Amino acid sequence: MSKKTSAEAVCVVTGAAGFVGSHLCERLLGLGCRVMGVDNFFSGRWENLTPFRDHPRFSFLERSVTEPGLLREIAAEHGPLACVFHLAAIVSVPYSVDHPEETWAVNYQSTIGLLQEAGRLGCARFVFAGSAAEYGDDARLPLRESYAGDQTSWLSPYGEAKYRSSRAVAACGDGPRGVALRCFNIFGPRQDPSSPYSGVISRFAEMAVRGEALTIFGDGHQSRDFVYVSDVVDAYCRAAGLVASAPEVPAGIYNVGSGTRTTILELARMILSLTERGESIRFYAERPGDIRHSVACIDAIQAVMAWRPRVSLEEGLRETLRWMQSQGA
Ligand SMILES: NC(=O)c1ccc[n+]([C@@H]2O[C@H](COP(=O)([O-])OP(=O)(O)OC[C@H]3O[C@@H](n4cnc5c(N)ncnc54)[C@H](O)[C@@H]3O)[C@@H](O)[C@H]2O)c1
Repeated sequence: MSKKTSAEAVCVVTGAAGFVGSHLCERLLGLGCRVMGVDNFFSGRWENLTPFRDHPRFSFLERSVTEPGLLREIAAEHGPLACVFHLAAIVSVPYSVDHPEETWAVNYQSTIGLLQEAGRLGCARFVFAGSAAEYGDDARLPLRESYAGDQTSWLSPYGEAKYRSSRAVAACGDGPRGVALRCFNIFGPRQDPSSPYSGVISRFAEMAVRGEALTIFGDGHQSRDFVYVSDVVDAYCRAAGLVASAPEVPAGIYNVGSGTRTTILELARMILSLTERGESIRFYAERPGDIRHSVACIDAIQAVMAWRPRVSLEEGLRETLRWMQSQGA
């Protein structure tokens, strides 16, 4: 990879102390960019910043994205902004159901505020963390970008806020070129397993490393589309025009997934086999509101960004398990 953006300009990453944001910061630094990370540690962790916190091209601001004037302040201190990567969000779907107004402020209003400010500052690009939750429980599979619309019935304030933000980002005519990446189930090192609603892979990995039985809600035949974090980061970099060999990316909304369905039972068995454990699975009642099946159509991102997932599920699981073991789980 080589970059097209001036080394002088700054890339802002909101949600920098989070799982995906921290991997993105690391990749951008590797590409030679100056990076300003922003996070208020709502769900992020200081440890995620450790591998690059002292990098000479990295700066960090402990602030909320809901604060007006954030980008203006960064530009005044650090110079022109090349790209804003907006990943900060309330990521827990159940929390969003219990706190709809807070979710709207953080997950939608902050997007609009940052987008407008980026436009006023002449920032060329804005890349947003969209989500498969934007599709609600649409049963048409694989999910195509056009399926989410104003008629979608979202299962949570999280899904609706992500949908409305993605739409606004992609439609930002005279502002920065806006790209929303509708990511499916991302997994990899640094994903926090601590809540029952965390990514299923991080929870399974933690249980397996601890020698506990893996717990499945429902019959295990529900399926998901798992995509490894380094592939997602690659999509972010392409969307921002930072990959020299990749085509210019027009404003729009693009799914990011593997394009393959894996059942939760298949996943559990893969993890048990990689950790050399027997069939040690416990089944609990299905959780209300859980989507039965989900898989992305990735034709658009493949055609427009020449992107494809490179890390197989097995390879990604090995890396995740190695990391989980290194944490002492
Ligand atoms: N992990 C996935 O499977 C997945 C899938 C689809 C979309 N996404 C989206 O990708 C983005 C990153 O998710 P993640 O999995 O890394 O989650 P994460 O919780 O690790 O990261 C989110 C970060 O945003 C920060 N944050 C929250 N509110 C903030 C605020 N008001 N101001 C500043 N920072 C704030 C948190 O502290 C955290 O560091 C999110 O927008 C999420 O919705 C994630």
